[in-house]
Amino acid sequence: MATVYLAILYLFQISVMVTARTLPVHPYLLTSQLQKPISNIFDTSKYGILQLDNGVARTPQMGWNSWNFFACNINETVIKETADALVSTGLAALGYDYVNIDDCWSQWARNSQGQLVPDAKTFPSGIKALADYVHGKGLKLGIYSDAGIFTCQVRPGSLYHENDDADLFASWDIDYLKYDNCFNLGIKPQERYPPMRDALNATGRTIFYSICEWGVDDPALWAGKVGNSWRTTDDINDTWASMTTIADLNDKWAAYAGPGGWNDPDMLEVGNGGMSYQEYRAHFSIWALMKAPLLIGCDVRNMTAETFEILSNAEVIAVDQDSLGVQGRQVLVSGTDGCHQVWAGPLSKNRVVVALWNRCSKVANITAEWSALGLESSTRVSVRDLWKHEVVSVSKVASIGTKVEAHACEMFILTPQTVSSSEI
Ligand SMILES: *[C@@H]1O[C@H](CO)[C@@H](O)[C@H](O)[C@H]1NC(C)=O
Ligand SMILES: *[C@@H]1O[C@H](CO)[C@@H](O)[C@H](O)[C@H]1NC(C)=O
Ligand SMILES: *[C@@H]1O[C@H](CO)[C@@H](O)[C@H](O)[C@H]1NC(C)=O
Ligand SMILES: *[C@@H]1O[C@H](CO)[C@@H](O)[C@H](O)[C@H]1NC(C)=O
Ligand SMILES: *[C@@H]1O[C@H](CO)[C@@H](O)[C@H](O)[C@H]1NC(C)=O
Repeated sequence: MATVYLAILYLFQISVMVTARTLPVHPYLLTSQLQKPISNIFDTSKYGILQLDNGVARTPQMGWNSWNFFACNINETVIKETADALVSTGLAALGYDYVNIDDCWSQWARNSQGQLVPDAKTFPSGIKALADYVHGKGLKLGIYSDAGIFTCQVRPGSLYHENDDADLFASWDIDYLKYDNCFNLGIKPQERYPPMRDALNATGRTIFYSICEWGVDDPALWAGKVGNSWRTTDDINDTWASMTTIADLNDKWAAYAGPGGWNDPDMLEVGNGGMSYQEYRAHFSIWALMKAPLLIGCDVRNMTAETFEILSNAEVIAVDQDSLGVQGRQVLVSGTDGCHQVWAGPLSKNRVVVALWNRCSKVANITAEWSALGLESSTRVSVRDLWKHEVVSVSKVASIGTKVEAHACEMFILTPQTVSSSEI
């Protein structure tokens, strides 16, 4: 109990500390969708919604990106086959609609008119033809550039070419831009990222603007007015160590996420082979709870049944895409090195999502008291297990706990029972 109490006290202090730097409060808050007991725990004081009002990112972006699996080994065939696979597997229908090309799509140099040129060997039909193909499948096409003089793989960057490049992307009917941070001449990101925002806006085309500044200059503090999402960390890699480190770093900025602008702990590694089934399930669960972009990073043309089971979990996806848009967070840690963890967050309709995450290497029982979740202790809830896909309790009070395997994450939605008038 003492731990719980201290944790609450600690969270309360954090929320008092950060309240000093208040951003505009979103109208959603005024409609009291956030219940009082919950807002005490889940600081949403920076819920600076729709600061960049460009029509996208009302919920975190979903789709696929080429980098984590293919790196530079991309071409128009693999992008088309990926679009085909997103549709044929049913992933597109679950919301994965951005098909994002990462670095290495362009030639080593601009043309004589100063324009970027698609690599003639790997993208011989050009990007406009690819956009047409992807749009024909009901999907959207994303591209990549860099707020520096070169991209990370040393293709031409867009620094000082923002207007020309944005115009070119819009002329190709591009829907999404990931904007990286290599070769940035040491210029502050607060100076390098807004010009591309303005250039994209001036094209008149709706283009999702994904800032990839690696969390260097604490983008959560300023990027809400600049982009639709901002990376909070260095690149993810396909290891348990990387995934857990990144989850913790991204958690720090929970209060700054909201509809219109999201913290981005980087793309998914699910299905790339470096983690176990339980580890990938935890990766996907926590990314969804954190309202992270769900950008698949494996070869969707060739997924195992387990990979597909994780990526296609509609109940977990619904947590990520919940209309309330409040980033869940780590609320309780216990055990050796704090490896027994409870992560939670509010959802629409007064529901609460809870993840019991065992980061130890031995099986453990993990329990969360209602007070740690922002619920009154007398609140009665039904409990749905998002991985078993069943209601595991119709009437639970006070706490929830279960056995959690090593590195596994069990995930639940608690739905408060509506009090009937006779009980009042
Ligand atoms: C451009 O910015 C204005 C002001 O924020 C916004 O209303 C408009 O929708 C934006 N247009 C596009 C195409 O993003
Ligand atoms: C396209 O890229 C894929 C993935 O790297 C590769 O397997 C394939 O051989 C390439 N196709 C062509 C025509 O280069
Ligand atoms: C992966 O990330 C971890 C944690 O950030 C880091 O220690 C490790 O060096 C990285 N591995 C590679 C291959 O980059
Ligand atoms: C499909 O994935 C498996 C590993 O899951 C790999 O062994 C195989 O080579 C892949 N096939 C293709 C065609 O990429
Ligand atoms: C978990 O709790 C059950 C039931 O109370 C108990 O039998 C079991 O030994 C506990 N397991 C661990 C690893 O603590």
